[in-house]
Amino acid sequence: MEIFKNTDREFSFETEILRQGAYINAPATNPEAAPIYLTTAFNVEDLEDLYDRYEKKGFCYNRNRNPNRNALIDLMTYSEGGESSIICTSGMGAISTAILSLVKQGDHIVSDMTLYGETIDIFKEILPNYGVEVTFADFTKLEEIKAAIRPNTKILYTETVSNPMITVVDLDSTAEIAHKNNAIFVVDNTFMTSVGIRPLKHGADLVVNSLTKFANGHNDAICGAVTGRAELVQEAYRYQVLLGNAADAFTSWLVQRGMRTMALRVEKQMSNAAKLAKALAASPYVLKVNHPSLPDHPQHGLAMKLFGDEEHCGGMLSIVLPDSMEKINLFMRNLNLAHYAMTLGGYRTTIAHPVSSSHYDTPEEERIKMGITFGLLRISAGIEKSEDLINDFLEALKVFSE
Ligand SMILES: Cc1ncc(COP(=O)(O)O)c(C=O)c1O
Repeated sequence: MEIFKNTDREFSFETEILRQGAYINAPATNPEAAPIYLTTAFNVEDLEDLYDRYEKKGFCYNRNRNPNRNALIDLMTYSEGGESSIICTSGMGAISTAILSLVKQGDHIVSDMTLYGETIDIFKEILPNYGVEVTFADFTKLEEIKAAIRPNTKILYTETVSNPMITVVDLDSTAEIAHKNNAIFVVDNTFMTSVGIRPLKHGADLVVNSLTKFANGHNDAICGAVTGRAELVQEAYRYQVLLGNAADAFTSWLVQRGMRTMALRVEKQMSNAAKLAKALAASPYVLKVNHPSLPDHPQHGLAMKLFGDEEHCGGMLSIVLPDSMEKINLFMRNLNLAHYAMTLGGYRTTIAHPVSSSHYDTPEEERIKMGITFGLLRISAGIEKSEDLINDFLEALKVFSE
């Protein structure tokens, strides 16, 4: 094995302390788990080596490329069925980089109106500063999308399953509308993951994911990805390097580790969500349950077509409880298993209150129009034993009987 800058010469203590033990000198190839490359840069032998690395997209500087990030790029590209990916510091990093790399001054975007709140903030608060206009439409109504399109529409943007109303978008038909109008179709697949659906197979050009959620699944890393057609991802990569939002090595490693069990976890989470939705729909204290597995969900038929069956409609649901802060507080305190957390997709069931978190800044009139009332609670199903989870919710709901 070639030892980098090996020499018999001995230097002073102050110099040797920088050199000794800097490299692993025994063979250390093929470890069972990938090592973490916590290095800002890679040593280069000479200029020939440097140009060789440029040509082969080798490792030089961490903001451009890192082995752990590359490993996650390969995994994400495979899992979403794309041609290439970039891995970003967060889901928002992925979304903002993808959007900025696609638009220029004078362009127009048609976006779904029920999205993750901060994605809406990018569209409303940042893009107008750069001369990009956004029109919001209800993406469950294809006619509304068509009516919003202009000659300068560059992007159609939606989420597979919306937050927090859990509506479902007809991806194939929306892709058709986008492509007929020379627009790029971007889909956020965070809620479903590639275990539930692969939007690229339904006509999306780019798919963005917050890997912070179901993909990693352990609530210990913030990360995001853009995956899709190679030439679009290449442009997003150019922006990512300049904007400086590449995920670090440790985060990439954690998410890669989390994703190894994604298929097992998300299958169980989807099944738990469907069972919980059914049980809660039968409770006299729950006014409404939003989950595509339920026959009364407005896009139940579409969900069956896109996701296959009731057990594969995603791990997210929402419920409407009476608008009583006192009772909701009691209910939350009485739950033993579900934690209140401002995230989702972890292995434990979590709940969130959209009025106080994701839609805190949304004007009341607007959020009521979306169906986001004070009593709405969003639930992210975990991998607990279904019966334990259901019983815990049904017990805690008894506070509404008093
Ligand atoms: C659907 C969706 N997209 C994107 C994001 C942003 O992800 P991150 O927090 O990793 O930036 C979230 C966060 O909750 C989300 O729910």
